[in-house]
Amino acid sequence: MTPNHDFAAHSKTLVHRVNQYLDRLLSQTSASDQLQSAMRYAALGGGKRIRPLLVYAAGLLSKAPMSALDAPAAAVELVHCYSLVHDDLPAMDDDDLRRGQPTLHKAFDEATAILAGDALLALAFQCLADAAPEYRDAQAITASIQLLAHASGGDGMVGGQMLDIDMEGSYPEKESVEQMFRLKTGALIHAAVMLGIHASDMSSDQQMIEQLSQFGDAIGLCFQVQDDILDVTGDTDKLGKPQGSDEEKDKPNYALRYGLDVARERADGLFSAAIQNLTHYGDQAEPLRWMASYITRRDY
Ligand code: IPE
Ligand code: IPE
Ligand code: MG
Ligand code: MG
Ligand code: MG
Repeated sequence: MTPNHDFAAHSKTLVHRVNQYLDRLLSQTSASDQLQSAMRYAALGGGKRIRPLLVYAAGLLSKAPMSALDAPAAAVELVHCYSLVHDDLPAMDDDDLRRGQPTLHKAFDEATAILAGDALLALAFQCLADAAPEYRDAQAITASIQLLAHASGGDGMVGGQMLDIDMEGSYPEKESVEQMFRLKTGALIHAAVMLGIHASDMSSDQQMIEQLSQFGDAIGLCFQVQDDILDVTGDTDKLGKPQGSDEEKDKPNYALRYGLDVARERADGLFSAAIQNLTHYGDQAEPLRWMASYITRRDY
């Protein structure tokens, strides 16, 4: 591995690496041409790849072998890509632009978008299970599958998406909105960090698990607060998705409900809380510090 100080440059190599891994994975399916093209459209058409980068960054901290990080990095991104496809559907946020392109249901049709999302979710778990030989033991792979399943379903991302819809048009307490964020967005981001550690020999280090878990919680919540800020202040071309979508649908957007200043202050506070958990780890934690800063300061 290259030195951790230069994660800005290294992250580009890692994005390329996970893109190639995803490309290979998607070329192995025997799905129909239509379904395969839709899956590729959703999974390979850009994206910051923040969740795979978090897997690699946590793997660097815990000294996991690179070969054991590719499958969890790809798996969490596949779940994320499926969540975006379904999030954009007319029955959900009804958005037409994603990653600078027409959303999947616009480029194809709704049925194809629903099915491609379903197939990406299944592929995520297949990819992780097939990577068992890269893991040091069966327990580590089982723990990783459990982690991702928990973060993806009713107790995680899907549960949060349900709460998000329930909160449309309402003015809930900040704590309720934050709890919804922790589920719809934070759960997968937290899982990405934990998957990186579970691919290493350090998963029995309870102190590391606890600190990285708190890091993942804080930065996951921060991610959605920043996403909401950008929905208000961002630029559609730069974001690659429609600015102002939340206001149009009266979504429980943090900045719209509690004000931009409150949202920015919360994002900064969560950034500080996140990196406090890394103080013991010196240079080894530089990739995770860089990721925390990227998540908080990004403008797309
Ligand atoms: C957007 O996630 C959806 C949310 C969870 C807020 P990203 O901002 O990571 O989207 P991509 O993957 O870069 O397109
Ligand atoms: C979505 O939150 C979180 C997901 C689980 C996909 P948003 O609805 O705010 O995400 P964007 O802004 O459309 O990317
Ligand atoms: Mg949404
Ligand atoms: Mg949305
Ligand atoms: Mg948003």
